[in-house]
Amino acid sequence: MPSLDVCLSPELLHLYELKGKVVVVVDILRATSSMVTAFAHGIERIVPVSSLDDCLNQKQEGFLTAAERDGRKAEGFDLGNSPFSYMEPHIKGKTLIMTTTNGTHAIRLSMAADKVIAGAFLNLGSVARYLQEEQKDALVVCAGWKGNFNLEDTLFAGGVADRLAETFTPANDATLAARHLYRLAQQDKIAFLSESSHVKRLKNLDIIKDIEYCLQEDLYVVVPVLADDSLVVLEKEIVN
Ligand code: MLT
Repeated sequence: MPSLDVCLSPELLHLYELKGKVVVVVDILRATSSMVTAFAHGIERIVPVSSLDDCLNQKQEGFLTAAERDGRKAEGFDLGNSPFSYMEPHIKGKTLIMTTTNGTHAIRLSMAADKVIAGAFLNLGSVARYLQEEQKDALVVCAGWKGNFNLEDTLFAGGVADRLAETFTPANDATLAARHLYRLAQQDKIAFLSESSHVKRLKNLDIIKDIEYCLQEDLYVVVPVLADDSLVVLEKEIVN
């Protein structure tokens, strides 16, 4: 039976072996939620980069750029990190160069894995099915906040552990803890997260509807997979 591991912060990633594993990178508020939404609405390719300069340098004719820092859209870029801006028809078939405070960096730190996929509550069921099909040891990498633990990414890791409880063995206590937290929060994730650091940060920026949207489960059947330096999707459909 394959194992399921959870890394609670990119700062702990050096403690984990990535080779031979499928890594699920999660940044619920909001990077991976925006990526999943973008693919469900027809974006062709997303190139996650770590710096604002890299994002601008890679801009070519017809490419879109997205940049967020500390929850705000960065000046001089086409898009920020609100999932609602990835529902617009103009993103269809486009390539997006994207940099965010934590999520895109966590993806780049995970590239040594056999496979890297983007996970969010929006595609939780698809992620669980994908791992089931891969039948490889898996590691959920929580993007956190500037190296710190965050609650929402850990809840997602717990959701994956809960969906795979019969078929994957928990590889460490972080997996067990994440699942317990998820089961506690499952009834009302919005209330459970109301005092969490990034929820408060976004509320201070008057970003409310993004929070509620990103906490919904199984809105889409898409699994963004890293191919070379780009996220792409092999198949998709909208389930709601
Ligand atoms: C991040 O990468 O840290 C987040 O996605 C930040 C945000 O969008 O608020």
